[in-house]
Amino acid sequence: MARANPYRRPDHFAQRAQKSGYPARSVFKLADIDGRARLLRRGMRVIDLGAAPGSWTLYAAERIGAEGRVLAVDLQPITVALPPTVTAIVGDALDLANDDLALHAPYDLVLSDMAPATTGSRQTDAIRSAALVERAIGVADALARPGSAFVAKLFMGAEYDAVRELLRHRYDALRTLRPEAVRARSVEVFLVATGRKA
Ligand SMILES: C[S@@+](CC[C@H](N)C(=O)[O-])C[C@H]1O[C@@H](n2cnc3c(N)ncnc32)[C@H](O)[C@@H]1O
Repeated sequence: MARANPYRRPDHFAQRAQKSGYPARSVFKLADIDGRARLLRRGMRVIDLGAAPGSWTLYAAERIGAEGRVLAVDLQPITVALPPTVTAIVGDALDLANDDLALHAPYDLVLSDMAPATTGSRQTDAIRSAALVERAIGVADALARPGSAFVAKLFMGAEYDAVRELLRHRYDALRTLRPEAVRARSVEVFLVATGRKA
């Protein structure tokens, strides 16, 4: 007998996201992380890597208000309406130069929900996910201010400890969070670092 595909039917997070005007259920992952780590405040400058279809960007823009700024970056265009405080760039974060991402630098918060296209090999996917997190760390190295915070999605794999180590050297505090909205069978976790060292 065929098993139910949990990705086919909208779950309650997807339905709630739709009702609240967010294009993706992933908004509840950032809301959960923000609630626990108290990251977003009014007036902040944020870079959101892997921003399409736009839920994190919209959530961040709401939290930082009219004085804040978001630079949203993705391979795909964001098709939802964005407030004027958001600038969106279509491009590959692995190829874009740091200067291309500097519009609102120095950043108070670097977000990365970037995820590689999955291949069917968990090991390959985890390696590619770690490369995306390392790129986000590189962006923070170049463009984030001392005291700033960092959030990145990572697919669990052999690279986990090494990636955590990169962050531990750069930030005062580091947590690994798995928000409630992460699907039970997903291998993703979120690395949340605060207090970037000077
Ligand atoms: C899970 S989705 C992000 C969802 C988004 N945070 C939201 O809340 O709407 C992952 C995104 O990462 C993007 N992505 C993957 N690799 C990327 C890269 N090298 N550069 C930029 N974006 C990338 C994908 O195009 C995809 O839109």
